[in-house]
Amino acid sequence: MRVLNFGSLNVDHVYRVAHIVRPGETLGSGTYARFPGGKGANQSVALARAGAAVWHAGRVGPESAWLRERLAADGVRTDFVRVGEESGGHAIIQVEEGSGQNSIVLFGGANRSIPPAQVDEALAAFAPGDVLLLQNEINATAELIRRGHAAGLRVCLNPAPMDDSVLGFPLELLDLLVVNEHEGAALAGPDDPVRMLDSLAARYPRTRLCLTLGAQGAVFRDVSGATFRQAARRVAAVDTTAAGDTFIGYFLAAELAGKTVPEALAAACAAAALSVTRPGAMDSIPWARELA
Ligand code: RIB
Repeated sequence: MRVLNFGSLNVDHVYRVAHIVRPGETLGSGTYARFPGGKGANQSVALARAGAAVWHAGRVGPESAWLRERLAADGVRTDFVRVGEESGGHAIIQVEEGSGQNSIVLFGGANRSIPPAQVDEALAAFAPGDVLLLQNEINATAELIRRGHAAGLRVCLNPAPMDDSVLGFPLELLDLLVVNEHEGAALAGPDDPVRMLDSLAARYPRTRLCLTLGAQGAVFRDVSGATFRQAARRVAAVDTTAAGDTFIGYFLAAELAGKTVPEALAAACAAAALSVTRPGAMDSIPWARELA
Protein backbone atom coordinates (compact mmCIF):
# COMPACT_ATOMS: atom_id res chain seq x y z
CA MET A 1 0.00 0.00 0.00
CA ARG A 2 1.39 3.37 -1.03
CA VAL A 3 0.55 7.00 -0.32
CA LEU A 4 0.15 9.63 -3.01
CA ASN A 5 0.20 13.04 -1.34
CA PHE A 6 -0.88 15.68 -3.85
CA GLY A 7 -0.17 18.96 -2.08
CA SER A 8 1.63 22.23 -1.63
CA LEU A 9 5.34 22.99 -1.39
CA ASN A 10 6.25 26.39 0.08
CA VAL A 11 9.27 28.37 1.14
CA ASP A 12 8.53 29.64 4.66
CA HIS A 13 9.94 33.03 5.71
CA VAL A 14 9.81 32.97 9.49
CA TYR A 15 10.06 35.97 11.82
CA ARG A 16 10.09 35.64 15.61
CA VAL A 17 8.10 38.47 17.20
CA ALA A 18 7.14 39.63 20.70
CA HIS A 19 3.48 39.32 19.68
CA ILE A 20 1.58 38.74 16.42
CA VAL A 21 1.48 42.09 14.61
CA ARG A 22 -1.73 44.07 15.15
CA PRO A 23 -3.67 45.99 12.44
CA GLY A 24 -1.83 49.25 11.67
CA GLU A 25 1.20 48.26 13.72
CA THR A 26 4.82 48.00 12.49
CA LEU A 27 6.76 45.49 14.51
CA GLY A 28 10.44 44.66 14.47
CA SER A 29 11.72 41.11 14.41
CA GLY A 30 15.19 40.23 15.64
CA THR A 31 15.35 36.95 13.76
CA TYR A 32 14.62 35.82 10.24
CA ALA A 33 14.99 32.28 8.86
CA ARG A 34 14.01 30.57 5.63
CA PHE A 35 12.65 27.04 5.97
CA PRO A 36 11.18 24.41 3.64
CA GLY A 37 7.44 24.06 4.22
CA GLY A 38 3.95 23.85 2.77
CA LYS A 39 1.28 21.71 4.39
CA GLY A 40 1.52 19.10 1.66
CA ALA A 41 5.30 18.83 1.70
CA ASN A 42 5.40 18.79 5.51
CA GLN A 43 2.91 15.91 5.60
CA SER A 44 4.95 13.94 3.04
CA VAL A 45 8.10 14.40 5.11
CA ALA A 46 6.24 13.34 8.28
CA LEU A 47 5.05 10.18 6.49
CA ALA A 48 8.56 9.41 5.25
CA ARG A 49 10.25 10.08 8.60
CA ALA A 50 7.63 7.83 10.21
CA GLY A 51 8.62 5.04 7.80
CA ALA A 52 5.84 5.11 5.14
CA ALA A 53 6.29 4.84 1.35
CA VAL A 54 5.11 8.24 0.06
CA TRP A 55 5.06 9.86 -3.36
CA HIS A 56 4.61 13.63 -3.36
CA ALA A 57 2.88 15.35 -6.29
CA GLY A 58 2.84 19.12 -6.65
CA ARG A 59 4.36 22.12 -8.32
CA VAL A 60 7.19 24.50 -7.45
CA GLY A 61 8.61 27.60 -9.13
CA PRO A 62 12.11 27.86 -10.65
CA GLU A 63 13.40 29.62 -7.52
CA SER A 64 11.97 26.95 -5.21
CA ALA A 65 13.01 23.83 -7.12
CA TRP A 66 15.36 23.08 -4.19
CA LEU A 67 12.30 21.93 -2.23
CA ARG A 68 12.13 18.87 -4.47
CA GLU A 69 15.67 17.87 -3.45
CA ARG A 70 14.80 18.46 0.20
CA LEU A 71 11.89 16.03 0.00
CA ALA A 72 13.98 13.47 -1.85
CA ALA A 73 16.70 13.70 0.82
CA ASP A 74 14.07 12.65 3.37
CA GLY A 75 13.07 9.60 1.35
CA VAL A 76 9.95 11.10 -0.26
CA ARG A 77 9.52 10.00 -3.90
CA THR A 78 9.34 13.16 -6.03
CA ASP A 79 8.53 11.68 -9.47
CA PHE A 80 5.36 13.82 -9.65
CA VAL A 81 6.76 17.16 -8.44
CA ARG A 82 7.02 19.50 -11.43
CA VAL A 83 8.91 22.80 -11.79
CA GLY A 84 6.64 25.41 -13.41
CA GLU A 85 7.52 28.81 -14.87
CA GLU A 86 5.43 30.73 -12.33
CA SER A 87 6.68 31.78 -8.88
CA GLY A 88 6.55 29.06 -6.26
CA GLY A 89 4.37 29.14 -3.17
CA HIS A 90 5.67 30.89 -0.09
CA ALA A 91 4.51 31.78 3.40
CA ILE A 92 5.27 34.73 5.68
CA ILE A 93 5.14 33.32 9.20
CA GLN A 94 5.24 35.22 12.48
CA VAL A 95 6.08 33.09 15.52
CA GLU A 96 5.28 34.62 18.91
CA GLU A 97 8.04 34.41 21.50
CA GLY A 98 6.92 32.57 24.61
CA SER A 99 3.81 30.83 23.29
CA GLY A 100 5.25 29.58 19.98
CA GLN A 101 1.86 30.39 18.35
CA ASN A 102 2.01 31.46 14.73
CA SER A 103 0.26 33.58 12.14
CA ILE A 104 0.67 32.83 8.42
CA VAL A 105 0.23 34.80 5.20
CA LEU A 106 0.21 32.40 2.26
CA PHE A 107 1.01 33.05 -1.41
CA GLY A 108 -0.11 30.02 -3.42
CA GLY A 109 1.89 30.64 -6.61
CA ALA A 110 2.71 27.43 -8.50
CA ASN A 111 0.66 25.40 -5.98
CA ARG A 112 -2.44 26.93 -7.54
CA SER A 113 -1.41 26.39 -11.19
CA ILE A 114 -1.54 22.60 -11.34
CA PRO A 115 -2.69 21.62 -14.85
CA PRO A 116 -5.16 18.75 -15.48
CA ALA A 117 -2.42 16.68 -17.15
CA GLN A 118 -0.42 16.62 -13.91
CA VAL A 119 -3.44 15.25 -12.04
CA ASP A 120 -3.96 12.57 -14.73
CA GLU A 121 -0.32 11.52 -14.64
CA ALA A 122 -0.13 11.13 -10.87
CA LEU A 123 -3.44 9.29 -10.44
CA ALA A 124 -2.59 6.85 -13.24
CA ALA A 125 0.36 5.53 -11.23
CA PHE A 126 -1.73 4.40 -8.23
CA ALA A 127 -4.11 1.51 -7.69
CA PRO A 128 -7.26 0.74 -5.67
CA GLY A 129 -6.48 0.55 -1.96
CA ASP A 130 -3.64 3.08 -2.12
CA VAL A 131 -4.07 6.25 -0.05
CA LEU A 132 -4.53 9.71 -1.58
CA LEU A 133 -3.73 12.47 0.92
CA LEU A 134 -4.87 16.05 0.27
CA GLN A 135 -4.90 19.47 1.96
CA ASN A 136 -6.36 22.80 0.75
CA GLU A 137 -3.33 24.65 -0.63
CA ILE A 138 -3.55 23.56 -4.30
CA ASN A 139 -6.08 24.34 -7.03
CA ALA A 140 -7.14 20.74 -7.81
CA THR A 141 -8.33 19.42 -4.44
CA ALA A 142 -12.05 18.92 -5.24
CA GLU A 143 -11.23 17.20 -8.55
CA LEU A 144 -8.67 14.98 -6.83
CA ILE A 145 -11.23 13.89 -4.20
CA ARG A 146 -13.71 12.90 -6.93
CA ARG A 147 -11.25 11.19 -9.21
CA GLY A 148 -9.27 9.53 -6.43
CA HIS A 149 -12.47 8.07 -4.96
CA ALA A 150 -13.64 6.90 -8.41
CA ALA A 151 -10.26 5.16 -8.90
CA GLY A 152 -10.72 3.23 -5.65
CA LEU A 153 -8.12 5.18 -3.65
CA ARG A 154 -8.74 5.84 0.04
CA VAL A 155 -8.96 9.62 0.12
CA CYS A 156 -7.84 11.53 3.24
CA LEU A 157 -8.33 15.28 3.52
CA ASN A 158 -6.96 17.86 5.91
CA PRO A 159 -9.02 20.93 4.84
CA ALA A 160 -6.35 23.43 5.85
CA PRO A 161 -6.26 26.30 5.44
CA MET A 162 -10.05 26.38 5.80
CA ASP A 163 -11.94 28.66 3.42
CA ASP A 164 -15.34 28.70 1.71
CA SER A 165 -14.13 26.47 -1.13
CA VAL A 166 -14.05 23.51 1.28
CA LEU A 167 -17.84 23.77 1.75
CA GLY A 168 -18.18 22.83 -1.95
CA PHE A 169 -15.83 19.81 -1.79
CA PRO A 170 -17.41 16.31 -2.04
CA LEU A 171 -16.47 15.49 1.56
CA GLU A 172 -18.90 12.55 1.65
CA LEU A 173 -16.42 10.65 -0.57
CA LEU A 174 -13.61 10.78 1.98
CA ASP A 175 -12.24 7.82 3.87
CA LEU A 176 -10.69 10.10 6.51
CA LEU A 177 -11.27 13.75 7.41
CA VAL A 178 -8.76 15.36 9.79
CA VAL A 179 -9.74 18.77 11.19
CA ASN A 180 -8.72 21.04 14.01
CA GLU A 181 -11.34 22.81 16.10
CA HIS A 182 -11.48 25.84 13.80
CA GLU A 183 -11.91 23.69 10.68
CA GLY A 184 -14.44 21.44 12.42
CA ALA A 185 -16.45 24.49 13.53
CA ALA A 186 -16.50 25.86 9.97
CA LEU A 187 -18.01 22.57 8.76
CA ALA A 188 -20.28 21.65 11.66
CA GLY A 189 -20.72 24.81 13.74
CA PRO A 190 -18.88 25.64 16.96
CA ASP A 191 -19.45 23.01 19.63
CA ASP A 192 -17.65 20.85 22.15
CA PRO A 193 -15.43 18.19 20.54
CA VAL A 194 -17.75 15.20 20.97
CA ARG A 195 -20.85 17.02 19.69
CA MET A 196 -18.81 18.43 16.79
CA LEU A 197 -17.85 14.87 15.84
CA ASP A 198 -21.51 13.81 16.19
CA SER A 199 -22.54 16.52 13.71
CA LEU A 200 -19.77 15.64 11.27
CA ALA A 201 -20.62 11.92 11.55
CA ALA A 202 -24.29 12.62 10.80
CA ARG A 203 -23.26 14.56 7.71
CA TYR A 204 -20.53 12.19 6.47
CA PRO A 205 -21.51 8.73 7.77
CA ARG A 206 -18.98 6.81 5.65
CA THR A 207 -16.03 8.99 6.64
CA ARG A 208 -13.68 8.35 9.55
CA LEU A 209 -13.16 11.53 11.54
CA CYS A 210 -10.23 12.88 13.50
CA LEU A 211 -10.37 16.11 15.49
CA THR A 212 -7.02 17.51 16.64
CA LEU A 213 -7.13 19.67 19.77
CA GLY A 214 -3.58 21.02 20.10
CA ALA A 215 -2.41 20.80 23.70
CA GLN A 216 -5.56 18.77 24.49
CA GLY A 217 -4.61 15.93 22.14
CA ALA A 218 -7.03 14.40 19.63
CA VAL A 219 -10.35 12.56 19.32
CA PHE A 220 -11.08 9.97 16.62
CA ARG A 221 -14.51 8.68 15.53
CA ASP A 222 -14.79 5.49 13.48
CA VAL A 223 -17.71 4.90 11.07
CA SER A 224 -19.09 2.40 13.61
CA GLY A 225 -19.35 5.24 16.12
CA ALA A 226 -16.43 3.96 18.22
CA THR A 227 -14.59 6.94 19.70
CA PHE A 228 -10.96 7.09 20.83
CA ARG A 229 -9.33 9.93 22.73
CA GLN A 230 -5.60 10.61 23.12
CA ALA A 231 -4.12 13.19 25.48
CA ALA A 232 -1.20 15.33 24.34
CA ARG A 233 2.19 15.32 26.03
CA ARG A 234 3.01 18.47 28.00
CA VAL A 235 5.91 20.29 26.36
CA ALA A 236 7.32 23.83 26.22
CA ALA A 237 6.31 25.06 22.76
CA VAL A 238 8.91 26.95 20.72
CA ASP A 239 7.10 26.95 17.36
CA THR A 240 3.77 25.24 16.67
CA THR A 241 4.12 25.45 12.86
CA ALA A 242 3.54 22.05 11.20
CA ALA A 243 2.37 20.31 14.39
CA GLY A 244 -0.85 19.33 12.59
CA ASP A 245 1.12 18.17 9.54
CA THR A 246 3.33 16.01 11.76
CA PHE A 247 0.25 14.52 13.43
CA ILE A 248 -1.34 13.55 10.10
CA GLY A 249 1.81 12.02 8.63
CA TYR A 250 2.47 9.95 11.73
CA PHE A 251 -1.15 8.87 12.11
CA LEU A 252 -1.38 7.61 8.52
CA ALA A 253 2.04 5.96 8.62
CA ALA A 254 1.08 4.06 11.78
CA GLU A 255 -2.19 2.88 10.25
CA LEU A 256 -0.40 1.76 7.09
CA ALA A 257 2.02 -0.19 9.28
CA GLY A 258 -0.94 -2.09 10.74
CA LYS A 259 -1.24 -0.26 14.05
CA THR A 260 -4.62 0.16 15.77
CA VAL A 261 -6.29 3.57 15.93
CA PRO A 262 -5.29 4.11 19.60
CA GLU A 263 -1.69 3.22 18.73
CA ALA A 264 -1.72 5.52 15.70
CA LEU A 265 -3.17 8.37 17.79
CA ALA A 266 -0.50 7.88 20.45
CA ALA A 267 2.30 7.97 17.86
CA ALA A 268 0.80 11.01 16.13
CA CYS A 269 0.40 13.00 19.36
CA ALA A 270 3.92 12.11 20.51
CA ALA A 271 5.44 13.20 17.18
CA ALA A 272 3.42 16.44 17.10
CA ALA A 273 4.49 17.26 20.68
CA LEU A 274 8.15 16.82 19.78
CA SER A 275 7.76 18.97 16.65
CA VAL A 276 6.54 22.01 18.61
CA THR A 277 9.71 22.02 20.72
CA ARG A 278 11.75 22.88 17.59
CA PRO A 279 11.74 25.82 15.17
CA GLY A 280 10.57 25.59 11.57
CA ALA A 281 7.98 23.53 9.73
CA MET A 282 9.48 20.56 7.87
CA ASP A 283 12.72 20.84 9.86
CA SER A 284 10.85 20.34 13.14
CA ILE A 285 9.34 16.97 12.19
CA PRO A 286 10.91 14.11 14.18
CA TRP A 287 12.22 10.81 12.83
CA ALA A 288 10.58 7.63 14.12
CA ARG A 289 13.79 6.65 15.93
CA GLU A 290 13.50 9.81 18.08
CA LEU A 291 10.16 8.60 19.43
CA ALA A 292 11.25 5.08 20.27
O1 RIB B 1 1.22 23.84 8.29
C1 RIB B 1 2.33 24.68 8.21
C2 RIB B 1 2.52 25.20 6.82
O2 RIB B 1 1.45 26.03 6.45
C3 RIB B 1 3.75 26.03 6.64
O3 RIB B 1 4.90 25.27 6.34
C4 RIB B 1 3.35 27.02 5.55
O4 RIB B 1 4.05 26.86 4.37
C5 RIB B 1 1.86 26.82 5.37
O5 RIB B 1 1.57 26.10 4.24
